[in-house]
Amino acid sequence: MNFFTLQWQDGAVVMIDQRKLPNHEVYNTYRSHEEVAAAIKTMVVRGAPAIGVAGALGMALAANNSKAKSHEEFFAEMDRAADLLISQRPTAVNLPWAVKRIQAFYRKEKDSSLLVLQNKILEEALRIFEEDVVMCRQMGEKGAPLIEEGKTYLTHCNAGALATAGEGTALSVFYEAQRRGKKFKVIASETRPFLQGARLTAWELSKNGIDVTLVTDNMVAHLMRLGKIHGAVVGSDRIVANGDVANKIGTYGVAVLARHHGIPLYVVAPSSTVDFETPDGSHIPIEQRPEEEVTAFFGTPSAPAGIQVFNPAFDVTPHELVEAIVTEKGIARAPYAENLKKVLQRS
Ligand code: MRU
Repeated sequence: MNFFTLQWQDGAVVMIDQRKLPNHEVYNTYRSHEEVAAAIKTMVVRGAPAIGVAGALGMALAANNSKAKSHEEFFAEMDRAADLLISQRPTAVNLPWAVKRIQAFYRKEKDSSLLVLQNKILEEALRIFEEDVVMCRQMGEKGAPLIEEGKTYLTHCNAGALATAGEGTALSVFYEAQRRGKKFKVIASETRPFLQGARLTAWELSKNGIDVTLVTDNMVAHLMRLGKIHGAVVGSDRIVANGDVANKIGTYGVAVLARHHGIPLYVVAPSSTVDFETPDGSHIPIEQRPEEEVTAFFGTPSAPAGIQVFNPAFDVTPHELVEAIVTEKGIARAPYAENLKKVLQRS
């Protein structure tokens, strides 16, 4: 990749400001967990695995900045930081997954001195980062065989390097297929209202030499009917026990269309996105985003003042519409309630 999404640099978190892409490639530096929390909320960093890693690095900042004199005081401060970070976005399970992993880690290491503990928390956060990089590679390797020579694949939102610490989830499959010499095309849907497809996916795929064509969301049905799309490959923010998939708003529509046209829908996600505690998609919290994302284009109003708006950021695709779920450990197919566990339990 010829850019990075987030990094730990000299005691701070540095992140590309995704709100400014594709026009400006700007990196911001964050020195406190409160700043990282605000960056998650305002979409400087977004994408399920990336906000998980940002949450872990935010916890490392909270530990480094702590002036606590006792373990009790330190744990109370860290738990408050965890609550703040987790509360920024409710749908992607990777955020609580990563932050809670840090919480469990410092409780387990409670016999270390505070100074040692601060360093160990940073090491654990960096392990979460590195594991994400490796999982991206592995998802690419597991998913690349699904990409067929000469075919065209739709992707929705951004499930690429910009959404992870590594090469992405859905897009890592394309990057790996390209390394294997396969010839294929990608169609990126623009992903209203925040335009992750247009601003981010089109940017990173074209920057990395993938043949990508941009369409608006409402063109997908027409293109499928014309036989111009042969498969859809998307990421996920949360996959629950029965295989239902939360992903960017519009994914459910793509799934229904794909089924109608006999096109496979592949979901690519790491184990950190899988939430076995939640039985089915009806229990997944769906984030509502600000109305201005729908009523204006980057500050310029595009709807009557005061109009009522719905702006759910995610939807749920029922597992029946999913052809396969690609994880870093392998590919799960229906029945997901049994097979997701089987695949993820592989060592
Ligand atoms: O609101 P966003 O941009 O954080 O939503 C991101 C998505 O919905 C992605 O498709 C999902 O996180 C998978 S990314 C690897």
